[in-house]
Amino acid sequence: MSTIDYSEKIPNNVDLANDRTLQRALEHWQPRFLEWWKELGPNDFANSDVYLRTAVGVDAQGWAHYGTVKMPDYRWGIFLADPIADRTIGFGDSFGQPVWRQVPGEFRSQFRRLIVTQGDTEPASVEQQHRLGHTCPSLYDLRNLFQINVEEGRHLWAMVYILHAYFGRDGREEAEELLARHSGDVDKPRILGTFNEPIEDWLSFFCFCYFTDRDGKFQLKSLAESSFDPLARTCRFMLTEEAHHMFVGETGLGRIVRRTLGVMKEVGNEGPEAIRRRGAVDLPLLQRYLNFWFSSSLDLFGSEVSSNAATTFANGIKGRPDETTQYQDHVCADSSFEIEVPDGKGGVITDTSPMRNAMNEVLRDAYIRDCEIGLKRWNMQIKRAGYNFELKLPSNRFRRAIGAWANIPTDLEGRPIGREEYDRSLPGWLPSASDRDYVKSLMQRVVEPGKMAAWIAPPERGVNNLPVDYEYVRLN
Ligand SMILES: [Fe+2]
Ligand SMILES: [Fe+2]
Repeated sequence: MSTIDYSEKIPNNVDLANDRTLQRALEHWQPRFLEWWKELGPNDFANSDVYLRTAVGVDAQGWAHYGTVKMPDYRWGIFLADPIADRTIGFGDSFGQPVWRQVPGEFRSQFRRLIVTQGDTEPASVEQQHRLGHTCPSLYDLRNLFQINVEEGRHLWAMVYILHAYFGRDGREEAEELLARHSGDVDKPRILGTFNEPIEDWLSFFCFCYFTDRDGKFQLKSLAESSFDPLARTCRFMLTEEAHHMFVGETGLGRIVRRTLGVMKEVGNEGPEAIRRRGAVDLPLLQRYLNFWFSSSLDLFGSEVSSNAATTFANGIKGRPDETTQYQDHVCADSSFEIEVPDGKGGVITDTSPMRNAMNEVLRDAYIRDCEIGLKRWNMQIKRAGYNFELKLPSNRFRRAIGAWANIPTDLEGRPIGREEYDRSLPGWLPSASDRDYVKSLMQRVVEPGKMAAWIAPPERGVNNLPVDYEYVRLN
């Protein structure tokens, strides 16, 4: 196992000390990163002592150290998973050949685009969550928010390292741009739509962690298969950190459901008004938030049929998640994939696409299956409590802005409907202005150790075996 050198200005396990030019370039970027963090990171909490984990090794067992730090002193570093000996290319036209230690010239721009797009999402999410700390439902949740924020900051470092180390001047320029674009900025927005959506309340935050961060998980999983080995190793380690973000989303939403069920029992009424009078989140309201974030996140996978997807797969740039274990055919030169598309007359037809061109859809399908897991769990809670309500993911055709279903009005089940009916129904399907106002009214900060806001149940356990009422953040 390689250990991380913390005596360096930039902690790393890539032997940065022996590459002076690269080290200098990154040390030049470092203060800009810190400036960005100060301006757009967790607002006003620079003096708080936060109980955070920091990577100390890159192996699966005991890779993290837990301790109290002030966020600006967090040791953002460059950590690659250990190399796999004699690793060979796992998919595409060069299947079975040795992996690459450098970027082949002919694939340079494709790689750069993918790395920049991934890199752009990392600081974007920190910017989106910039003000959430002020309305935290508990210190436990506040700490989780900050943990995610510092790790997304580190993921930015992970991508910036690859850009600096392997893309020369272009890479350095892209690294600057990653700090110049900002979430929601009119002139210089972040690259992908969902990463420009404001996250102004914690219900949106948990939905974001559940749905949007999970897109990140799938993108990272497919880049972890890449033939360009340093990229694969970077992404593999990022996934270790990413698992916690999924956990925060899933347990956050699960705790909201638990609290709502408790209130439903107490008041003996399931009606949204009765639930809202007690300051909890009624299940139909939660459903509308799920509809919003799920449909927005689906677009992140791109078009169902894409020549770009075909090229990146053929060239060994981006594979499928769990390529080795989940698939038999790693070349996919003559297989096909069936896709349901609009027929242009208000109906649906089945189209057949070469498998390679349908890779975005393959990825999106795997993502949707992963999204179902949490819903099953929450629905089980609801059923066990004796209620007849089911949370559902809308159809992957609903409210799409990219791909074959872009701007085609459908209902939640994906049935094409008229534009008028769609416009009329949409307020019942997505959070309305009054829903958002109500959720906003719930966002009162709770910072007494162990106390929870009225709309969310306490977690089952605390962080790293500490009790739930541990003072995870000292606000100072
Ligand atoms: Fe990330
Ligand atoms: Fe994440």
